[in-house]
Amino acid sequence: NIKNDLDGKTIMVTAGPTREAIDPVRYISNHSSGKMGYAIARAALDRGAKVLLISGPVALTPPVGAEIIPVISTQDMYEAAVSRFEEVDAVIGAAAPADYKPAEVSPVKIKKTEDAMTITLIRTPDIIKTLGRTKTRQKVVGFAAETQDVEQYARQKLVDKSMDMIVANDVSANGVGFGSDYNAVKIIRHDGNLKEVPRMPKEQVAHIILDELASLFEDSVL
Ligand code: C5P
Repeated sequence: NIKNDLDGKTIMVTAGPTREAIDPVRYISNHSSGKMGYAIARAALDRGAKVLLISGPVALTPPVGAEIIPVISTQDMYEAAVSRFEEVDAVIGAAAPADYKPAEVSPVKIKKTEDAMTITLIRTPDIIKTLGRTKTRQKVVGFAAETQDVEQYARQKLVDKSMDMIVANDVSANGVGFGSDYNAVKIIRHDGNLKEVPRMPKEQVAHIILDELASLFEDSVL
């Protein structure tokens, strides 16, 4: 890609999973690899953007030129995203932040004395929803990882979280999604426009997402 269509734009990307501590040695997390978010960060840099990459714990090489903000928990990711939101022209929420965390974190390692145990979980803040509701000039792009009725849930989420665009994928499909180098998605804009992106490397999916973002920026200039 030789376009420089994101020159002068600052783009925040959230990527990867988060971890919610149970005690000093254990945590709750999910299967997000961070690959989609890192591919978007790299593609945005290639197209001339300044990139803030807020990343949960992943095993990936950071893209050269991005400002990396490493975080562990959803609360950390939320605080980083909210504190830097004012500086950016768009946020792309590719992370899979844990939706719940233990109500209490044990300060010492929990001993396995009981046959069964219960951990009470409480909601974590919704980062993209908070940003969607407080945005001024920013474009807010989210993801929807679903296992059924992908398009319908994605459209609901787009409205509920005040997003400008949502990237929906079926995480139950084979050979795409979590951990894969490939993805197949549907990109739905707030105006209802839908673009189907068949299975292809996440690098290419990233560029198509940014093509759509660039068109949103153009719309707001007109
Ligand atoms: O509601 P759901 O988790 O399916 O929404 C997915 C979108 O919301 C993704 O863009 C994800 O990054 C974002 N999200 C978030 N904070 C959360 C949960 C999800 O920003 N606590």
